[in-house]
Amino acid sequence: MLNLQNIDATYISADQKLPVLKNISITAAEGEFVSVIGPSGSGKSTILRIAAGLLKPDSGSVFENGIDMTGKTRLVGYMPQQDLLFPWKTLLENAALPLLAAGISKKEAYKRVEELLPVFGLVGFAAYYPDQLSGGMRQRGALLRTILIDSKLLLLDEPFAALDALTRITMQEWLLRIWEKFRRTVLFVTHSIDEAIYLSDRIYVITQRPGENAMEQKIGLPRPRSKKTVTSAEFALYKGILLSSLGQANFE
Ligand SMILES: Nc1ncnc2c1ncn2[C@@H]1O[C@H](COP(=O)(O)OP(=O)(O)O)[C@@H](O)[C@H]1O
Ligand SMILES: [Mg+2]
Repeated sequence: MLNLQNIDATYISADQKLPVLKNISITAAEGEFVSVIGPSGSGKSTILRIAAGLLKPDSGSVFENGIDMTGKTRLVGYMPQQDLLFPWKTLLENAALPLLAAGISKKEAYKRVEELLPVFGLVGFAAYYPDQLSGGMRQRGALLRTILIDSKLLLLDEPFAALDALTRITMQEWLLRIWEKFRRTVLFVTHSIDEAIYLSDRIYVITQRPGENAMEQKIGLPRPRSKKTVTSAEFALYKGILLSSLGQANFE
């Protein structure tokens, strides 16, 4: 469904050339949950920007369902690393934004948001402003907004990185339920090994910058997964494999 082929990318700032990605190839089949894991600064967010068509790679291609989408912006369910809800808009207004931008009437857009509030644990909070919501609620609101976008592809950039450990685990479980319900194809970026194993069908490990494919690991843990999954021997086995691939004792 999504196919990134031999991607090279460089940032240029103040006459400096910064090679960020080198010959990166990543695929995700329809309905598959794929994660990309790698050290900080290895180019993970850049991969998502390229997948979303917001950035054109120096070379290589992005195919979506076999169609070349390299450097083409389109309506895609992309949630950037710092996804900000506008502080002066309510949760309802924030969540409805992409629908309104797509030309859908306010009435219809609000209806669609309201239908999803129960799924996202946000019933009763539609009229709240972001600073009246907890961190977890804000993230769920941002995800609701992303999922409302009529795109089969979800690109999520470390959506839980800013949350405390307990909220993070709850949100991971919740994301799995959502994914099982909506069955979108997900490309998920994280620098947490546990999070990647728990959520994914397949994981790509990338190296330090410039990010290159280091390894690819299929995660055969049965679904539906739960808190118990993370205490299984199989989980520990995957963790060992990924840790040694990342090759750094101090990697979080
Ligand atoms: N717009 C930009 N201009 C110049 N350098 C950038 C830009 N965005 C990111 N970088 C640099 O590119 C490298 C990779 O960034 P990024 O893709 O955000 O990595 P990651 O998400 O893995 O932490 C980092 O060294 C970062 O500082
Ligand atoms: Mg990043």
